[in-house]
Amino acid sequence: MFTSLQLCLGRALQPDGSDMYAKMPKQLNSNTMVDLRSDTVTRPSEGMRLAMAQAEVGDDVYGDDPTVSALEEKAAALLGKEAGLFVASGTQSNLCALLSHCGRGDEYIGGLGYHIPTYEAGGAAVLGGISPRHLRPMANGCLDPVEIEASIQPDDPHFAMSRLLCLENTFNGRVQDQAAMTAAADVAQRHGLLVHVDGARLMNAAVASGTQACDLVSFADTVSLCLSKGLGAPVGSVLCGPADFIVRARRNRKLLGGGMRQAGVLAACGLYALDNNIERLADDHANARELAERLNSMDGLVVDLETTQTNMIWLKIDATGRSPLSAHMLEHGIIMSDPSGEGQAVARLVTHMDFESRHADSVVDGFASWLD
Ligand SMILES: Cc1ncc(COP(=O)(O)O)c(C=O)c1O
Repeated sequence: MFTSLQLCLGRALQPDGSDMYAKMPKQLNSNTMVDLRSDTVTRPSEGMRLAMAQAEVGDDVYGDDPTVSALEEKAAALLGKEAGLFVASGTQSNLCALLSHCGRGDEYIGGLGYHIPTYEAGGAAVLGGISPRHLRPMANGCLDPVEIEASIQPDDPHFAMSRLLCLENTFNGRVQDQAAMTAAADVAQRHGLLVHVDGARLMNAAVASGTQACDLVSFADTVSLCLSKGLGAPVGSVLCGPADFIVRARRNRKLLGGGMRQAGVLAACGLYALDNNIERLADDHANARELAERLNSMDGLVVDLETTQTNMIWLKIDATGRSPLSAHMLEHGIIMSDPSGEGQAVARLVTHMDFESRHADSVVDGFASWLD
């Protein structure tokens, strides 16, 4: 039996120390498996690898890597911001943003279950002395402006200073309602707070809603965009915002050990992704939709089709008395994380550029034999 953490880490050791992949059917290896754990599992395409090989590079800590600079400019233009900063990961990008907006003793407001307050190892508190204030998102995933207003601290020495509101789009694969996002930002900004958007999958939101990415974040002071998720790059995110903010963020990136030298070889992947892989996200969304509908039609599985808006499918499963799902699916060539929860459990499936519509048959077959 494998834990979802083991599966998330990409390999799972059994209790006796042997590797789970030893159990894979002979004709499969981890390159030919259908991996539905996340959109971070994609491998760089031929075109992307060629762009890497041909990238012009320099030492980016000295500011002279032309490919990194080109990526930063392109991302900033797409997001409608003054400047950009290429960083190693989404987590580093968000942390650079928090460290650059807030000081020790400041507080930021974020949603329960949003990535920054939930899945980033408490980095802002650990490294920046910045405390989180969690608000429970509304049913649509956005934060309620009334609750935001009520949670902003008065200027009183008893309290941490409310400094920043962190929003997320997409959230759990859902495109956030633009009016709700703007209303949340408005109330924060009226009280002098800054607004950061974790737009790890902002391009999914842009494509799914038919809106320019810059319009989705026009209210935000700063935005983080991941290149290594649906956009298919092996590594990297871009943090965008005002030029003076990016100067501070660059210093914080160095502090975090994120100053990279001939990073153009990586930035080339990001540039390639922005040039070639945005519109194609529509294929991932269509594949997710088709798979969601097929799974929802099976007895024992329920998918909320309304929330299947981009590349994530959330499945409700009655796992009572059944064998471990991920181990079963592995034997059908499917890698997925185990559902969370006992009995009535929830599983997440994520489509991406290495998932093709023909793979849906094996996923459906795998579930059918598990439910049998
Ligand atoms: C919404 C969101 N933000 C940020 C991150 C962090 O990105 P990274 O894994 O590159 O640190 C993730 C990762 O999955 C994410 O889903």
